[in-house]
Amino acid sequence: MIKPHGSDQLNPLFVYDSAKRHTLLEEAETLPSLLLNSAAAANAVMLGGGYFNPLTGYMDLADSLSVAEKMHTQSGLFFPVPIVNMTSDPSVQAGDRIALRDPNVEGQPVLAVMDVEAVEPVSEEQIDFMAEKVFRTLDPKHPGVATFRGLGNTLLSGPIEVLNFSYFQTDFPDTFRTAVEIRNEIAEHGWQKVVAFQTRNPMHRAHEELCRMAMEQLGADGILIHMLLGKLKPGDIPAEVRDAAIRKMVEVYFPPNTVMVTGYGFDMLYAGPREAVLHAVFRQNSGCTHLIVGRDHAGVGDYYGGFDAQAIFDEEVPAGALELEIFKADHTAYSKKLNKVVMMRDVPDHTKEDFVLLSGTAVREMLGKGIAPPPEFSRPEVAKILSDYYQALDQ
Ligand code: ADX
Repeated sequence: MIKPHGSDQLNPLFVYDSAKRHTLLEEAETLPSLLLNSAAAANAVMLGGGYFNPLTGYMDLADSLSVAEKMHTQSGLFFPVPIVNMTSDPSVQAGDRIALRDPNVEGQPVLAVMDVEAVEPVSEEQIDFMAEKVFRTLDPKHPGVATFRGLGNTLLSGPIEVLNFSYFQTDFPDTFRTAVEIRNEIAEHGWQKVVAFQTRNPMHRAHEELCRMAMEQLGADGILIHMLLGKLKPGDIPAEVRDAAIRKMVEVYFPPNTVMVTGYGFDMLYAGPREAVLHAVFRQNSGCTHLIVGRDHAGVGDYYGGFDAQAIFDEEVPAGALELEIFKADHTAYSKKLNKVVMMRDVPDHTKEDFVLLSGTAVREMLGKGIAPPPEFSRPEVAKILSDYYQALDQ
């Protein structure tokens, strides 16, 4: 099976030994606490599940700046996005052992224990430097920039031991998986070539066909549909609705035992190209050999060019940095001429009028008005789940 990123074995930071976990949970109650922000909590969940292998905890300031600038830590490890614990709590000292509390679960239980190696102030200039490199903009209207700039001016770094998977395991028991679990399932299936499909949407026809085209063109054994289960910007469709829609689509339209429907616990960054590279890192850690990157992958608004998230792999990811390969998908739409979903590059004879093109925003607007998306855009079973959700919102 494909190796994890940066090491021979996957090294999840979750404490699998239950006796040890129990002891740590008891110890945590005696330690000083830090209430995490959601971004740092999501980082802990990803570190716990092995997705951010080979990191052993939160990055220090020098690594964070270096990763933001050139996608490498000071010691030369390739990593696309700073994995940070920034806070506005001034009480933590270097050398402290602290309990990291979960902001997203009632009662704020302990999520992880951290040995704080460094506590470093981060200037506004340094925050903006990192934001500009990662998001390619400092526009405060960009949801990722707004979140990043609001995390706090103190950076805590050091190793962590993760004690649970926040609300993801309890709220999405059938869908949430760690990278460890996905690797194991891929091995059980006996799949060699596995294509990952990143999504934060219910899957429409274009998404479905992208998976099918990638499977066929790569001769893959299976596809990992890997949906984001964490926080999104207002207006995006909640995870439980997307999950139901995706499961229905897979059940009706894909052959059995070719698709794994799974999710991961991370908040959307909306960092476009940089997030696409992060997606590639954690799909490699999950045992996938390929990742589909299509139009405006992980984008928002018009901050990124339609295919910037593909170009970054050619222009900025050094050869050999990743073993996983990208499946570059062109803009996909329904052809009225051929009565099927096609990639636009494959039908040079088509004009604009030959396609049914609907943006996610247009579909959300239709659904908001009680209009079901047309069958060229959404499978009727998917449209029904989405319409029911939108109707319930109105009541
Ligand atoms: S994302 O933020 O998770 O990337 P989304 O769930 O919409 O958003 O997209 C999932 C994947 O499908 C991404 O790789 C994206 O580029 C691709 N994609 C979505 N719609 C299209 C389309 N019409 N044409 C080509 N690729 C698409």
